[in-house]
Amino acid sequence: MANLNVTLNRLSLQNPILVASGTFGYARETAAFIDFSKLGGIIPKTVTPQPRAGNPPPRTIETSCGMLNSIGLDNDGIDYFIEKHLDYLLSLDCPIIANVAGHNAEEFKQLAEKLNAFPQLAAVELNISCPNVSGGVDFATNPELTQQVVSTFRNACDLPVIAKLTPNVTNVVEIAQAAADAGADAVTLINTLLGMAIDWKKRKPILGNVVGGLSGPAIKPVALRIVWQVASTVDIPVIGVGGIQSLDDVLEFLVAGASAVQIGTASFYNPGLAARLADELSTVLDEQNCESVSDIVGTLVLPEK
Ligand code: FUM
Repeated sequence: MANLNVTLNRLSLQNPILVASGTFGYARETAAFIDFSKLGGIIPKTVTPQPRAGNPPPRTIETSCGMLNSIGLDNDGIDYFIEKHLDYLLSLDCPIIANVAGHNAEEFKQLAEKLNAFPQLAAVELNISCPNVSGGVDFATNPELTQQVVSTFRNACDLPVIAKLTPNVTNVVEIAQAAADAGADAVTLINTLLGMAIDWKKRKPILGNVVGGLSGPAIKPVALRIVWQVASTVDIPVIGVGGIQSLDDVLEFLVAGASAVQIGTASFYNPGLAARLADELSTVLDEQNCESVSDIVGTLVLPEK
């Protein structure tokens, strides 16, 4: 059987299939539908230093091949997360990667110091790419801010650090390079694409926040392109996310250069999908004569020029 272990700098996972932040709650919600021990990791919903009410409704709408969300980082804050969710999460037979966001480097430092008390966490993913909150939580649109926030967090926390980046920029490679320079162990690519939906009869936007983040199969080609661009130019492991709903999708991301993947929107309609894909992956790797996942990562063959 192929070896499914993957190593992303300081982060080691038993397999490369994780569930994405914001699509899996704090795991209790999905416990009836999935065997957590089969997952490479669980990334719960983003938490911020203070509780946030999020954006006005409606906050989600289905689109062709995807969904738009404008949740706005609705959460009860880091202290509540630690008090009410973390024990449960850490009791699961699965690596837990906390996901956090802040308004400035100082808030990231506070989050880092609090999470540093939990070495049982596998890593922390920094959500520096939320498209639904104005005022400084989209650091990943700027390389200097990305570097500042990642290095601040890294200096205050011993856990492996993953930077989740946005596709809503001209040159994501320079942002990924900034995250790598700041000491990130990996980057997650991609967060949602900024979009909107309109009820033309009412002449109104459908989302309460007017705009939101597009996810699901509609964004897979964009995610693949960005994973490939970053993985082939920046020396940092990439975790691919964006529209994955089948084993073929997983393999496309691995071939493009992702060392691991996250299942996002698909978990809403099939919460057991990520575990099934993890089960199926080793069979395909065996058929491909791969001894380990790394044998297939980044094996894309480009046409000769
Ligand atoms: O809660 C949110 O609006 C999350 C957005 C994101 O990070 O994509």
